[in-house]
Amino acid sequence: MTHILLTGIATLDIINQLDHYPAENSETRALKQFIRNGGNAANSATVLQQLGINAHLLAKRADDSNARLVYSLLEERQIDTTLCPVQKQSKTPTSYITLNEQNGSRSIVHYRDLDELQASDFTKLDLFPYDWLHFEARDCTQLHQMLKYTKTFNKPISIELEKNRAYIDNIMPYADVLFISKPFAKSRGFTNASDCLQHFAKSYNNKIITCTWGEQGAWAYANATIIHQNAFTLQNPVDTLGAGDTFNAGFIFSLVKKNMARQNNIKQALNFACRLAANKCQQNGFDQLIIPSSSIPENQTNFPD
Ligand code: FRU
Repeated sequence: MTHILLTGIATLDIINQLDHYPAENSETRALKQFIRNGGNAANSATVLQQLGINAHLLAKRADDSNARLVYSLLEERQIDTTLCPVQKQSKTPTSYITLNEQNGSRSIVHYRDLDELQASDFTKLDLFPYDWLHFEARDCTQLHQMLKYTKTFNKPISIELEKNRAYIDNIMPYADVLFISKPFAKSRGFTNASDCLQHFAKSYNNKIITCTWGEQGAWAYANATIIHQNAFTLQNPVDTLGAGDTFNAGFIFSLVKKNMARQNNIKQALNFACRLAANKCQQNGFDQLIIPSSSIPENQTNFPD
């Protein structure tokens, strides 16, 4: 079985589904409410577990009643959380999410009062059992030390660059795969994914770099080539929360057992990740996700070589 360690956060997500996005200082009744576990690494772990991967999560854990709920939901989904260090007298990070039923848009208000994971929580771990290590770029000073340590195990490393953070450029050299989000690309002044990839490929020409751009689909750089995958048409977008986390999980899953250097494998990974993310947007939450077949459908021949 393949084992992947995901390092990042676990949150409590309180999701109100509305039939429109509310105006400021108005009162609106939600149609539905969902209470779920969330957080980028935790969401990706939830998806990977459904893909048959043994997903281990490493996140700082609070010791309040919400933490008991979040971690029991993760454990119900067979995610291994035994490595998570507990911070005493702390609060679980919580997201208050408004989901607009009309288009699936998700607006997040996030409250956090919990320490970030420290390098000392990580550098005592035996990484030998893992086939892949994935990191959320959060406290990049701590992450830098974790990555230095990880490198000594000679395992594939992916890093998600979701938001611009202090010292984030220092951690990029450690990745084999960099996942760049649209907000991160925009924060660096890029108005499209292709320009962003061209820029980062100059410094990191031997890495795989992806950049997702909402309805325009996703791009990937590898082997001196940039490829594009159109977004799949969504018949019924209901919940886009965690679509990027799903994309990352799908891409890692596609590559973990394959030769990462082969261009055809990158095309397949990009296609699979986009189809998986599209399926996620058409359902609430991550459970019972419809898994696309891992080969590219016959009509998907629009990849440049
Ligand atoms: C989605 C998500 C939510 C969480 C928030 C944290 O990508 O991970 O589950 O509440 O982002 O920023």
